[in-house]
Amino acid sequence: MSAPWTATVLTIFPEMFPGPLGFSLAGKALANGVWKLDAVDLRDYATDRHRTVDDAPFGGGAGMVMRPDVIARAVDDRTARGAPGPRVYLTPRGERLTQARVREWAEGAGVLLLCGRYEGVDQRVIEARDFLEVSIGDFVLSGGELAAMAVIDACVRLLPGVVGDAASLEEESFSGGLLEYPHYTRPQVWEGRPVPEVLLSGHHAEIRAWRRRQALEITRRRRPDLLNTVS
Ligand code: ADE
Repeated sequence: MSAPWTATVLTIFPEMFPGPLGFSLAGKALANGVWKLDAVDLRDYATDRHRTVDDAPFGGGAGMVMRPDVIARAVDDRTARGAPGPRVYLTPRGERLTQARVREWAEGAGVLLLCGRYEGVDQRVIEARDFLEVSIGDFVLSGGELAAMAVIDACVRLLPGVVGDAASLEEESFSGGLLEYPHYTRPQVWEGRPVPEVLLSGHHAEIRAWRRRQALEITRRRRPDLLNTVS
């Protein structure tokens, strides 16, 4: 049998993993061998007694920078042992993650994720080991670990068999280039608020049309930037 989809995470906090990825759909799939997690302690690839992974920035300034030699040793060793790419460095300076990118990675053999801490990572190892720099949004986390978890979760839920109802993947936000329509369940009237009448009508074509209009309207209001790319 071929190897399961594999997430390799290079971090100074391997104990953070699987963390939330050990629960719910991702956790079940991990336990069932649908995907594999290799959380690698970068300090294992340091060479000094103190297992140092960072140093002061050339040119001065605040904070510390992660050393290229330590990261390269970790990447090369895991790659030699079969860790699949693409190689991704999580950083707020990166290009924004999209659902299209997530789909592409989920269809591959896995991802190798580098989590930065401190001020960042020496730029030379990003270039020399061909890392793509990716951000999960325009905000700054205190390290790449939570971003790596977000990337892994987004990929794993697209692996075959992880989400039971494939239709729910097709209808969700972004898959049609739009935000998703709103959902309703029982009670039919709650705190004086009725469920939209059309949803009780049983007219499937009308319900589809209503949902489409809702999706368009909410996208126009919240994310007009998405509409420019809808055909
Ligand atoms: N590390 C810190 N902030 C981040 C972000 N927004 N995206 C990806 N990695 C990060």
